[in-house]
Amino acid sequence: MDYKALFEFEVLKLKKENRYRIFKQINRNPLTFPIAQNDQGKNITVWCSNDYLGLGVNKNVVQATAEATLKYGAGSGGTRNISGTNSPIFLLEKNVALLCQQESALVFTSGYVANVGAISAITKIIKDIIVFSDEKNHASIIAGIKINSVTKHIFRHNDIAHLKELIAQYPLETPKIIIFEGVYSMDGTISDVNAICQIAKQYNALTYIDEVHAVGLYGERGAGIVNLCNAENKIDIIQGNFAKGLGVIGGYIAGKSGIIDAIRCICSDFIFTTSLPPALCVAASKSIEIVMSEEGKILRQTHQQVVNKTKNAIAKKGLNIMPSSSHIIPIMIANAQVAEQISYNLYNKHNIYVQNINYPTVPKGQERLRITPTPWHSDKMIDNLAEALFIENKT
Ligand SMILES: Cc1ncc(COP(=O)(O)O)c(C=O)c1O
Repeated sequence: MDYKALFEFEVLKLKKENRYRIFKQINRNPLTFPIAQNDQGKNITVWCSNDYLGLGVNKNVVQATAEATLKYGAGSGGTRNISGTNSPIFLLEKNVALLCQQESALVFTSGYVANVGAISAITKIIKDIIVFSDEKNHASIIAGIKINSVTKHIFRHNDIAHLKELIAQYPLETPKIIIFEGVYSMDGTISDVNAICQIAKQYNALTYIDEVHAVGLYGERGAGIVNLCNAENKIDIIQGNFAKGLGVIGGYIAGKSGIIDAIRCICSDFIFTTSLPPALCVAASKSIEIVMSEEGKILRQTHQQVVNKTKNAIAKKGLNIMPSSSHIIPIMIANAQVAEQISYNLYNKHNIYVQNINYPTVPKGQERLRITPTPWHSDKMIDNLAEALFIENKT
């Protein structure tokens, strides 16, 4: 068997389908954000970062990280069970619970791990649970659902009537869980949390929401869509991360103490892996402090203003913006090769970084560009982006 040839064939196949991934080497810079420098030192305006508020380069967050690294060292020293439970991780869990207005929280090494770990733990604890999952749920949710062999139903994206139709076939006493997201990252759509919680109440189901793309950005405290909808008392498990709106790394779940404690004790993805470094927990706590403060409110307001200006500027140039109700601006291109070429031209001719999004992140034929403004993008940057998109979309 020629194993090498098998792998090489796979790469060839990906190249043929325009799915071969080439990573851009582009260095973030706290002094010039959202302008970064490429490997030749050239300035590139980044329009596709998930550090939505720029907290990853915020002076106070960076300083807190540096000071905590000097104080605690680089790593955590082990898994939570063995020797990786430092004070900053406990404090971070308290801060997450406060942010989400839940009794308790648990920190994971990433949002992906939080979803896989928490969902598989829930389906392990309640073996006969029926899962209802939005069709646009993230890969980590799908991976979590697949771990144990549960019965699952996929409801059409944000389609409450379809969810109701699917869930109504089961008796009240059958255990059920509805899994959905606050903001869907590739379409920019927002879920109707209250309507889903209403269905959950009527049909006696648990609710699980992924707030990864909403944390820091929505609601009075900046906790996400649950916060925006004042649904803190209706939702059972809130999952989120520290890596996007909060600018650091790591994931979490929050909810009633009994639920969180049970997951803590049985979740392999939590137990058998080294915990987050203490300095990054300090950094995430600092970001939470900022989003809950007056500074956070101003950042959110400015963010929304920049998002609206960017949407308007791009729309005026006649580009096909998908109907997003959030900060995410997807432009449908519907062709992998064309999307890749536009992204390439923006980068090489206009010094603008907008990543093209291809299968399997989005379905084949729905390839797009995904633009994510921050409060730090200027009017001039917006004009440049709109003009460059106009030029490259035509060619
Ligand atoms: C909806 C959603 N959930 C979870 C994750 C995983 O989060 P993390 O990047 O912290 O692993 C992502 C990452 O892009 C995501 O989009």
